Amino acid sequence: MEIIDAQAQMKKRQPIGVFDSGVGGISVLKELIRIMPNENYIYFGDSKHAPYGTKTLEEVRRLSFHNTRILLEEGAKGVVVACNTATSAAVRIMRSMYPALPIVGIEPALKPAALQKEHPKVLVMATPMTVGQEKFGQLMKRYEKKADIYPLPCPGLMEFIEAGDLDSGRLHAFLRELLEPYLEKGLDSVVLGCTHYPFARKVIQEIVGGRITIFDGGGGTAREMKRRLGAANLLSPSTETGWVKFENSLATREELALCRQLLDSK
Ligand code: DGL
Repeated sequence: MEIIDAQAQMKKRQPIGVFDSGVGGISVLKELIRIMPNENYIYFGDSKHAPYGTKTLEEVRRLSFHNTRILLEEGAKGVVVACNTATSAAVRIMRSMYPALPIVGIEPALKPAALQKEHPKVLVMATPMTVGQEKFGQLMKRYEKKADIYPLPCPGLMEFIEAGDLDSGRLHAFLRELLEPYLEKGLDSVVLGCTHYPFARKVIQEIVGGRITIFDGGGGTAREMKRRLGAANLLSPSTETGWVKFENSLATREELALCRQLLDSK
């Protein structure tokens, strides 16, 4: 009996695994740390194979299963799929592969944006794969009577963040060209449906104007993971600040330095 209890206590102190196609999921990691500061985290960024959003469904599934295996081998007690693209492609299958494991994915925060006011106009920025998937089609169907929804695939945007470019003239020009056609529609909100995009939030807000509300799914995903770990009795009892271990399939010094920089960014 005592041995079983000691094992259960040890399990609670195991890290939470988080993965993304690259550094974008650090926007979700920040939210996780904000609401669960005493947990430990392993963040795996698959920058070597980024972007996922323009790959085939099979490739994204294969890479997502691989990333999950890496995190489990390192002792993750639960996995956050901090990538909208990987979530839409693989999370359902992952849940059937690991039925006892708390697995939480992320999807575009369309609900709060669509319910923000009476029939708002909502722009959803995401990868080509996310907006093309059935999961997003179903999400849109749920809210299409409550809001005018404009899905906007943004190939090329995540690459700026992967390169550590959060504020250059080139990024401004790229986003301006992308967003310009929607500015005259009288948008009420923009949903950042890719975990890389919150790192470009400042530039996006500048272009769309301060009146428009920007939503992302990081906070909701972090709260859901806390709830799931609580339900499984897996929350850490530690009262000390936890640690974060970064791993990246590129494994270069620059990449790991960028991870730290993004974690510390405002
Ligand atoms: N960060 C990922 C997402 O949330 C995708 C970026 C990519 O690899 O294309 O969708």
